[in-house]
Amino acid sequence: MTAMSTPKGAALVTGGARRIGAAMARALAQSGYDIALHYLASAESAERTAAEIEELGRRCRLFRCDLDDHPEMTDLIPSVRKHFSHLNVLINNASVFERGTLAGTGRDLFERHFNVNFKAPFFLTQAFAEGCAQGQIINILDTRVSRSDPHHAAYTLSKKALLDLTRMAARELGPAIRVNGVSPGMILPPPGGVMDELERRSAGLPLKRTGNTANLVAAVLFLLDNPFVTGECIYVDGGEHL
Ligand SMILES: NC(=O)c1ccc[n+]([C@@H]2O[C@H](COP(=O)([O-])OP(=O)(O)OC[C@H]3O[C@@H](n4cnc5c(N)ncnc54)[C@H](OP(=O)(O)O)[C@@H]3O)[C@@H](O)[C@H]2O)c1
Repeated sequence: MTAMSTPKGAALVTGGARRIGAAMARALAQSGYDIALHYLASAESAERTAAEIEELGRRCRLFRCDLDDHPEMTDLIPSVRKHFSHLNVLINNASVFERGTLAGTGRDLFERHFNVNFKAPFFLTQAFAEGCAQGQIINILDTRVSRSDPHHAAYTLSKKALLDLTRMAARELGPAIRVNGVSPGMILPPPGGVMDELERRSAGLPLKRTGNTANLVAAVLFLLDNPFVTGECIYVDGGEHL
């Protein structure tokens, strides 16, 4: 354990227990933020990530919440602020990603995607702006916002709506709050998927390779550290959006 220095603030990372969310939470801790680590089902991974963050000398507290449940979701920011009154960063990372064409998307699949990927970031943004005098929001989008993916209709549309929210919120919430987005491409296969398949598909990208969580983290830290950028969306996708 390293000695605690004064934190830069506190960051709420949704879906922060594992994978990309955990990498961002660790990087934010490394750069000086205390971490409010949100999770739903991955309790063990959340405990592990929290221990790693505390090893870095930062405070970390876990917040379990189903973002598909409106009353639970609206409690999240107030609960975080009770423990971290210095909350000044919100990373909307938690997401649902399921296949479904337009014809194959029923109401449940549609609502799950829009509730978790769009409605939760919308109301978390509202609550963050109400409670925090100053701060920053980063929305984790997807390179698919630049095109249409007919096999992930609800997912793609929910992320496109989140991109629009990013720009709308940046206009409305400045100068106190900056709002930006990062659009990943081929970083990690879906849970249970294999990296080989991503590597094979990445041959078709301008940069002919997959990315990694460090590439995403670098974009998030750039946006947090640059006080003249708001409403921006950085593609970290090897050129896939082109
Ligand atoms: N993986 C990629 O290469 C890639 C590519 C493009 C975009 N992205 C975007 O990058 C972000 C992170 O990607 P990822 O692959 O690491 O995501 P992921 O593993 O698919 O999901 C992240 C977390 O979302 C949480 N979550 C799902 N439903 C929830 C709900 N109802 N309530 C609360 N939390 C819920 C889960 O938390 P628990 O595990 O605790 O349940 C999960 O660990 C996402 O926004 C994704 O759309 C990723």
